[in-house]
Amino acid sequence: MKAEHAQFTVAVLLSGSGSNLQALLDDQHNYRVVLVLADRADAYGLQRALSANVATVCVPLDQPKDQERRRAWEDQVAAVLDVWAPDLIVMAGWMRVMSARFIERFNQRIVNQHPALLPDEPQDTYLTAGGQIVPAIRGAHAVRDALRLHLPVTGCTVHWVTPVVDTGPVLARAEVPVLPSDDQATLHERIKTEERRLIVQVVRRLARKQTQR
Ligand code: GRF
Repeated sequence: MKAEHAQFTVAVLLSGSGSNLQALLDDQHNYRVVLVLADRADAYGLQRALSANVATVCVPLDQPKDQERRRAWEDQVAAVLDVWAPDLIVMAGWMRVMSARFIERFNQRIVNQHPALLPDEPQDTYLTAGGQIVPAIRGAHAVRDALRLHLPVTGCTVHWVTPVVDTGPVLARAEVPVLPSDDQATLHERIKTEERRLIVQVVRRLARKQTQR
């Protein structure tokens, strides 16, 4: 672990368990996780961050449907991020869709993890390595939908965040076969194993790119 020498800084946004955050915390090869921000106080990822002595902030969103409050909440999230001014913001199980205004403010600095295969172009299908055409599954229920649609293969994607949800340029993806015995929990866990590997790979690569500039 070389965290104390790393220059490239990363903030992680999360809403839940934070096993992907843990993978980043355990790695910190050529980057440093400087902030973990959650939208709910019971997100276990906050505990992981505290155990690793990383700054944690919780900015809860009480009434998500109230547009005015939502805007104010987004401004608070942005203000916290501005304090740490990270080189990269990783949405790792962040269950909130952010406005175009927020995304443009952090232009080209936000990546998202999505537990399904997303194509390179904003199209509706994806061609697997085995030549199968599967639908691009977007949205918050990607694992459940892969099972519901009886897909032979699903996977995970890391992509840049743009104002259109789950369509930004792809940085990395991995395929995961769906087994006949799978339920949502077993399939999601196998996908997450790949996601943890991918997110570390992507952050290392982006950190290397920036420090080579
Ligand atoms: C991942 O599957 C991610 O793609 C999805 O939420 C999950 C987060 O897992 N958006 P964890 O909280 O990092 O364990």
